[in-house]
Amino acid sequence: MSRYAYVNGRYLPFRDAKVHIEDRGYQFGDGVYEVCEVRGGRLIDERRHMVRLQRSLDALRIRAPMSPRSLSVVLHEVVRRNRIGYGNVYLQVTRGVARRDHGFPAPQVKPSLVVTARPLNRTRNEALAAKGIAVISVPDDRWGRVDIKTIGLLPNVLARQAAIEQGARDAWFVDKDGYVTEGASTNAWIVTAAGAVVTRPADHGILRGITRTVLFDMIKAQGLWLEERPFTLAEAYAAREAFMTAATQIVLPVVRIDGHAIGDGKPGPVATTLRRDFHLYAEQS
Ligand code: PDD
Repeated sequence: MSRYAYVNGRYLPFRDAKVHIEDRGYQFGDGVYEVCEVRGGRLIDERRHMVRLQRSLDALRIRAPMSPRSLSVVLHEVVRRNRIGYGNVYLQVTRGVARRDHGFPAPQVKPSLVVTARPLNRTRNEALAAKGIAVISVPDDRWGRVDIKTIGLLPNVLARQAAIEQGARDAWFVDKDGYVTEGASTNAWIVTAAGAVVTRPADHGILRGITRTVLFDMIKAQGLWLEERPFTLAEAYAAREAFMTAATQIVLPVVRIDGHAIGDGKPGPVATTLRRDFHLYAEQS
């Protein structure tokens, strides 16, 4: 099946979709992005993702490439043209194309917008969630504004690769005080022996995940006990359950951290229920 991408005003066959070599995203990582889940051909939590996109753009002082309404049309059109039932849609906005210079380009330089979409294998994802995954911990050596969803993801790339090389699926960052911050592209959670569902507050130390925000609503609605506080790696090793959240995986149980089995080493009931019921609480558009 042919794939299409949206690049600066045009829907192009995937192989023809290109940006200029002096795009500031390419040269400086000077841009932001969002990833939305697609389910039944509809976007999950588009509204919240677009609010966060605007926040990231504002933080970096990049102009919005188009109105939210037009952007929504483009996102849906890319999903439609690629016939995505189950998968995700990716959008990236950079500060645009200009002669390489660290300072911002002239104000008339237009931001670049790229949108792609891809199908995911649902059976494979469900099998992964039913089994749970292993993660390793790595020192969090990222910059101080990881709450902005920038395309500058080198530490995240290195962390994920370290995990793969150690036979794990993902990595959890740990700050200099021994507290878990988040995963390479996910938020991190544990369920304590007493039954509290714990995740770190969304200060500048983590990305405020949209999936995380929806989970807060769910946890409250289901009468579970939520604690928004930092947790240590030692606490995670001793947890009854661990899991991570992101638009690409919703809720994914973590059954091993640095080789320590979490709980009985199988996905636990809290993570499993949150994964099962997530879409009852998410918005669809
Ligand atoms: N990552 N933390 C980080 C560092 C992330 O990159 C992400 C998302 C999250 C979870 O955010 P959300 O629930 O809004 O997806 C947390 C996307 C999916 C990615 O980079 O592919």
